[in-house]
Amino acid sequence: MNDIDVSMIKSSGAAPSGKVDFSRIRTIDGLDVRGKCVLVRVDFNVPIKDGVVGDTTRIERVLPTIKHLLAGGAKVIVLSHLGRPKTGTMTDTTLKPIADKMAELMPGTKVSFIGNCVGDEARRGVEALKPGEVALLENLRYNDGEKKNDPDFAKELAALGDIYVDDAFSTAHRAHASVEAITHFIPSYAGLLMMAEITALDRAVEHPQRPVMAIAGGSKVSTKIQVLTNLTARMDQLVLAGGMASTFLFAKGMEIGKSLCQPEAVPIVKEIMAHAEKHGCELVLPNDFIVAKELKAGADWHVCKAGEIPADEMIVDIGPDSVADLKRRFAEIKTLLWNGPVGAFEWEPFGAGTYVLMREAARLAKEGKLAAIAGGGDTVAALNNAGVSQDFTYVSTAGGAFLEWLEGKTLPAVAALAVSRA
Ligand code: 3PG
Ligand code: MG
Repeated sequence: MNDIDVSMIKSSGAAPSGKVDFSRIRTIDGLDVRGKCVLVRVDFNVPIKDGVVGDTTRIERVLPTIKHLLAGGAKVIVLSHLGRPKTGTMTDTTLKPIADKMAELMPGTKVSFIGNCVGDEARRGVEALKPGEVALLENLRYNDGEKKNDPDFAKELAALGDIYVDDAFSTAHRAHASVEAITHFIPSYAGLLMMAEITALDRAVEHPQRPVMAIAGGSKVSTKIQVLTNLTARMDQLVLAGGMASTFLFAKGMEIGKSLCQPEAVPIVKEIMAHAEKHGCELVLPNDFIVAKELKAGADWHVCKAGEIPADEMIVDIGPDSVADLKRRFAEIKTLLWNGPVGAFEWEPFGAGTYVLMREAARLAKEGKLAAIAGGGDTVAALNNAGVSQDFTYVSTAGGAFLEWLEGKTLPAVAALAVSRA
């Protein structure tokens, strides 16, 4: 992945996204942190099974911020949530295994774990910390105040440090105490990953190099109505693929066999079509598909033209003509925003269309001909399967926050960084 120039937002005088004026966000660039206690909010909401951390991407992606602060002589206190625990300590949502993983990923740095994020235990742990050392605090969501955006809880957290750095873009759609309320009580800055995420999304959605295309895949139209509505106003081309394509075909009166379809969404689909037309956005529907009688790995399949899908078959992937058409289109666009696989990639071989297209986008991105930006859990999993995450221009660590940005919403934690002057 190419590095994002974090100074770009300020130097370009980028216009506000939604109601957020980026130029008001303070970055850690040049910030003096020597001897200071810096609270760093990260998103370590990572998969853990039997105490073993699975995918470490979210941990690795915040290490540049932590290392930058340590190199500047700071003591670093790391805050995160994990899962959705109710109340009290739950063994399967403790952050302890992540402290061990951090220590492994940061050889030579002392990483300790503190069993509470507030109270005496937290205060004592933080007092014992020396410059150049890291401590990870226990799950923020063990405290009710976190999700309630409680100012008293936020004040307690803020009191542990001198400076606050938010590097948890993937949590920015939550107005929670450790990302929103806290910014009212302590000088607050955006971390390197936070800046990279919002810069990449701003470049793709609000200030793209044109022509700009978005690929919207995934299964249900109903969960992406806002995304589709917002994107039709901003993109030059919007590719509708994956399960949601069938509802569009159905709305156009075409045969879709037993493909996943939401007939109740037809009026909305028609509105989206009209909205696209009004804004000069070309809606691109695949003109052929891979169809199968069942959705299972290794099911028999064949190629079928749009509109000719037999009654007892369903769409499982995009077809070869459509893949060729999209490859041609990729060569003509400057920016590609990808959210959602174009086929049922969980069942082999129906990830083929997605992987071929991802590899083509990655090739163009690597040659500097295309800015390719992707986000969302399934999309990132598919990119990893295709083996090309490294070649995309930017891959977001966010799921829900990425989607809400595509919906055109203002993310509360990003807004808090822009107004905070504590
Ligand atoms: C995520 O994994 O998308 C974020 O950490 C947010 O988690 P949440 O949906 O439980 O708030
Ligand atoms: Mg989530």
